[in-house]
Amino acid sequence: MTIKQLQQDILKLKREQDVIILAHYYQSMEIQEIADYLGGSLELSKIAKEKAHSEYIIFAGVIFMAETASILNQDKHVLIPSREACCSLAAYLNPKMVKLFRKKYPNLPVVTYVNSTAAVKAESDISCTSSNAVNIVRNISKEYQVDRVLFGPDANLADYAEQKSKIQTVKMPREGQCIVHSQISINDVKNARKEHPSAIILVHPECRREVRDTVDFIGSTAQMYNRVKQSPSKETEFIIGTEHGMLERMAQDFPNKTYHLLKDDITCLDMKKNKLEHIKHLLEHLDDKTFEVKVPSEIAKRALKPIEKMLKYS
Ligand code: 13P
Ligand code: SF4
Repeated sequence: MTIKQLQQDILKLKREQDVIILAHYYQSMEIQEIADYLGGSLELSKIAKEKAHSEYIIFAGVIFMAETASILNQDKHVLIPSREACCSLAAYLNPKMVKLFRKKYPNLPVVTYVNSTAAVKAESDISCTSSNAVNIVRNISKEYQVDRVLFGPDANLADYAEQKSKIQTVKMPREGQCIVHSQISINDVKNARKEHPSAIILVHPECRREVRDTVDFIGSTAQMYNRVKQSPSKETEFIIGTEHGMLERMAQDFPNKTYHLLKDDITCLDMKKNKLEHIKHLLEHLDDKTFEVKVPSEIAKRALKPIEKMLKYS
């Protein structure tokens, strides 16, 4: 079956049922094209809270994103196209570790990146995304009247939030990192600059500090998208330092600009585990529990508080 045929079947099945599809920018273009809503993790959390009125929500992203949608919509069915679409960054932190950090630093608030499990969120004071991490660290440190916060599991995002907010972050753990963004090196930046000297380089805050310090713009997926969208006509060339799905999106939406990927291949293999065939299967078997992401209500209740607090501060 061709991609076009699969997409047509999906759109037809979607029209006939009470279902909505949310997709992250890192999904393949063919999935992005059939989504009702597309965005970065913060926008998708907001959409899951405010606009997802259907009984079924298909979340084309990784498990922690579907879990967040489930926490915000306990009365709905949240389905993920591939159960194998995990985020390896989330695996760096577990609830036991958070409790140990709390014991060691009893006065400090716990900030956790949404790229964490629901059980970790349940142990946190506030969640954050890469779009709002700096603001969240600033606000929560003010609320607790402290000059340090606990932050996990991404040590690079923690470092970025610390650099910008001037509030120290205790990393939970020190070595937490995204396998996709942390592999981008300073040499990749140097080579890209040499090859495209007039291009503007954008990277995600999950990149390492030495990389972040040499580029032109640091931002979440949505912030990068808006940076390109709002760029003046004299800025024509961009080097994208994040998953290549983002570059494809921008190339489609702003075709009058030129794009290069910061290094040969920047792919999140987990995000790419979701396929059109899986989505069609879900739509044909909406009641198949295998693909339902349901956070147990006791954990969901506790995890809801830090997410709602984040949304309030965003
Ligand atoms: P955004 O919050 O920028 O959408 O990123 C999510 C993510 O997983 C980045 O690797
Ligand atoms: Fe997780 Fe990194 Fe993939 Fe984002 S890009 S989902 S942080 S592994």
